[in-house]
Amino acid sequence: MDRPYIICHMVTSLDGKVTGDFLGKSAYSGLIEDYYRIHREYGADGFLCGRVTMEGSFPQPPIQQTVYDGPPMAREDYIAEKAVFYAVAIDPRGKLWWGGRAIADTDESYDGAHIIEVLTQSVPDAFLAHLRDKGVSYLFGGKTELDLALAAQKLKRLFGIETLLLEGGGIVNGSFLQDGLIDEISLVVVPTAEPSEKAVPLFQTGKYQTSDTPAASFRLKEAKKLGDGGLWLTYQK
Ligand SMILES: NC(=O)c1ccc[n+]([C@@H]2O[C@H](COP(=O)([O-])OP(=O)(O)OC[C@H]3O[C@@H](n4cnc5c(N)ncnc54)[C@H](OP(=O)(O)O)[C@@H]3O)[C@@H](O)[C@H]2O)c1
Repeated sequence: MDRPYIICHMVTSLDGKVTGDFLGKSAYSGLIEDYYRIHREYGADGFLCGRVTMEGSFPQPPIQQTVYDGPPMAREDYIAEKAVFYAVAIDPRGKLWWGGRAIADTDESYDGAHIIEVLTQSVPDAFLAHLRDKGVSYLFGGKTELDLALAAQKLKRLFGIETLLLEGGGIVNGSFLQDGLIDEISLVVVPTAEPSEKAVPLFQTGKYQTSDTPAASFRLKEAKKLGDGGLWLTYQK
C-alpha cells in the first residue's frame, strides 16, 4: 500500500455522537481510560486530527502574527525531523500557530509527538516561516483544497508512517471515509445517547463532500464488552 493503514479510533455515544457531556461524566471515566489504553495498544506511528480537534485538545498560547518581510517561502514539503510518533494536523488554511515542535500533554502516549502540519499552498509565507522557526514539519496536500489521498501517501513516503490513528473530529473522519481512506474502525461505545442537534456525529462531510460515491462498507471484526456497560467494536473494510 502506498499510504499508511488508517484506523479511525473514537469514543461515541449510542447514537454515534463524538461530543457531548457524556464524555466528561465520572460514570464513564473508565471507558475514556479504555480509549487511551487501546490507542497505546495499537502501537501506531502517529495520530491525525482535524484543525478544530487539535485546537481544542492542545491549546496553544496566542501568538503575534507578525508581518513577514523575508524572501518568498517555497511551497516545498519540510521534514523538520524523523520521530517515533507523530501528531498530524489537518490545517488547510494555516490556523494552528504551534508554539513548539511537539505536543505537550499530560497523557504520555500523546506527549512529545512530533507535529506534522498538512497544508494547502494557500497558507501565508509568515505561517510557513513560523513553522520552520518552531521546528514543526509540514507537507502540502493540494493547491487550495486538500487531496487527502495525496497527503496520506506523503505521510508514508516522507515520514515512514505505516499505521495511523484517525482520531476525529467528525468532519475529518467524514472526509477520510468519503475518500475511501479508512481501513479499520475502532469504537469505544458509551452506553448513553447524546440527542443534542449540536453534537458532532462520528462521520460528517458537509462542505468537504467531493462526490456522491457511497461510503465503504465494513464488516464486524470483534465486539468486546468493557466495564461500565461499554463496548469496544472493531470493523474492517
Ligand atoms: N469522542 C471522540 O473520540 C473525539 C475525538 C476527537 C475529537 N472529538 C471532538 O470533535 C469535535 C471537533 O469535530 P469537528 O468535526 O467539528 O472538527 P474536526 O474534524 O476536528 O476539524 C475540522 C476542520 O479540519 C479541517 N478539515 C477537515 N477535513 C478537511 C478536508 N477534507 N479538507 C479541508 N479541511 C479539512 C477544516 O479546518 P478549517 O476550518 O481550518 O478549514 C475543518 O473545519 C471537538 O469537539 C472534539 O472534542 C471527539
